[in-house]
Amino acid sequence: MSNTVEIEKRRTFAIISHPDAGKTTLTEKLLLFGGAIQTAGAVKNNKIKKTATSDFMEIEKQRGISVATSVMAFEYLGKQINILDTPGHKDFAEDTYRTLTAVDSVILIIDCASGVEAQTERLMEVCRMRNTPVIIFINKMDREGRDSFDLLDELEDMLKIKVRPLSWPIGIGHTFQGVYNMYNKELNLFAANKTKISDEVVKIDNLDDPQLNDIIGDDPTAELKEELELVDGVYDAFDKEAYLKGEVAPVFFGSAINNFGVKELLESFLDFSPSPIGRETSEGFIEPEAKDFSGFIFKIHANLDPKHRDRIAFLRIVSGKFERNTFYNHVRLEKKLKFSNPTSFMAQDKSIIDEAFPGDVIGLYDTGNFKIGDSLTEGTVFSFKGIPSFSPEIFMELENRDPMKSKQLEKGIQQLTDEGVAQLFIQQPGNRKIVGTVGQLQFEVIKYRLEHEYGAKAEFVPKRFHKACWMTTDNQAQLDKFIKAKAIYIAKDKDDNYVFLAETPFLLQMAQTDYPDITFHFTSDFKVV
Ligand code: G4P
Repeated sequence: MSNTVEIEKRRTFAIISHPDAGKTTLTEKLLLFGGAIQTAGAVKNNKIKKTATSDFMEIEKQRGISVATSVMAFEYLGKQINILDTPGHKDFAEDTYRTLTAVDSVILIIDCASGVEAQTERLMEVCRMRNTPVIIFINKMDREGRDSFDLLDELEDMLKIKVRPLSWPIGIGHTFQGVYNMYNKELNLFAANKTKISDEVVKIDNLDDPQLNDIIGDDPTAELKEELELVDGVYDAFDKEAYLKGEVAPVFFGSAINNFGVKELLESFLDFSPSPIGRETSEGFIEPEAKDFSGFIFKIHANLDPKHRDRIAFLRIVSGKFERNTFYNHVRLEKKLKFSNPTSFMAQDKSIIDEAFPGDVIGLYDTGNFKIGDSLTEGTVFSFKGIPSFSPEIFMELENRDPMKSKQLEKGIQQLTDEGVAQLFIQQPGNRKIVGTVGQLQFEVIKYRLEHEYGAKAEFVPKRFHKACWMTTDNQAQLDKFIKAKAIYIAKDKDDNYVFLAETPFLLQMAQTDYPDITFHFTSDFKVV
């Protein structure tokens, strides 16, 4: 039987933002709509609090909580919505980038006062790499913020995507009265209230309707009309196809904390966001409707209890139907595995499932079989592309401080880097281990876990590398020459690819000039087997 109905009803997406823009708040409100949680505050613990940046134990505790909230599934208006959580802390950015490979679209939140921030730009870059459809929610309209046209200009300039407002704010901060929804031709009236579920909506098809003046006043009406005219003049009409290709981002305004604009965001999202999309593989593009099951691992979560070293591997189902206790090909290991207790995540409850469909994310208990990027298939053997590693920003050499525990250290660092906590580069001679991360915090995490889970003692010695570059070329002789000449800056990543560890931007530029046939990349595409 075809899975079309199951595929059609699913929406798998992530909410992304610079920390503090309102991701946790919006997620919580969406869950309230879906009836997945009953009270506000239930999702609050799900983020690493700013005050705890250096408090490792606190982070561990919160990491534990985030297992349960890694995927939040609920039903609304007949659709099954899977929200994939992404860590708010910038030091875990790479985890977020990987999660973005498992979604079909995103909602990007912008704080109306701060506009585009550093993390917003990077996240958007990752979305652009994969042409992920993006909806933008401009949040905190109940506070004084920036002029809406200026914000939209900034979005286009800095995020390099065209935008199209589908709702428009009436006032801002203390003058904020609500939004006019151009898509549904409705006026949504704002009332600050953190607990209500829906907004007061008045149908206004025609802006000359005198009701508008009666409700919001003459001056705001005149201003709204003028601004909407300008919007229509400046921005092309909303084109769903362009949105689905990641070329234009529809924009909504609201206030997550007041649950304002959230319902219309959710309903518009359900109206035009994509149902599960297929993925590129070593055997070509696989559509979700393909008969045989396939999926890939995009995240691995370690058990918090050091006595039980089992982990949860998160699998995104791409095609077919996943079934419990059925043998599938573990492509990299070239062996067949079956799973007796695959887990789904409905809001905050975990439960064992018998089957799952494209778009779903399930947890597989793992005792060390999985690495990030692994593929599982039924029938034909192939691998998914596109779980890239990004060049780390901080590099340290791992030094063993207890020679009696070398084996434990070796195993520990291999497993932790399989989980994606950090990247490992091995330099010869001497098997030297360079660990690269996007944030300082991971070094603390690794040191702590090596000691507590593996009984190994290690220290990190800073290395002054600027970038790790993966290399491709059509001129093998030139690459061989480069690898020989720069031997002390060459390492291998976990997939045995050569990586150039450039010490400074200048040295990288020199290499590019001296070896013109080599292309230096700051990301590695997942190696196709
Ligand atoms: P994050 O997950 O993106 O980091 O952001 P989060 O939802 O935690 O929101 C960050 C802060 O912004 C929170 O305040 C939250 O209450 C506030 N906030 C979210 N949406 C709105 C909004 O629409 N209007 C206003 N005025 N504030 C909003 P906090 O003081 O940091 O935390 P809390 O004490 O409220 O928990």
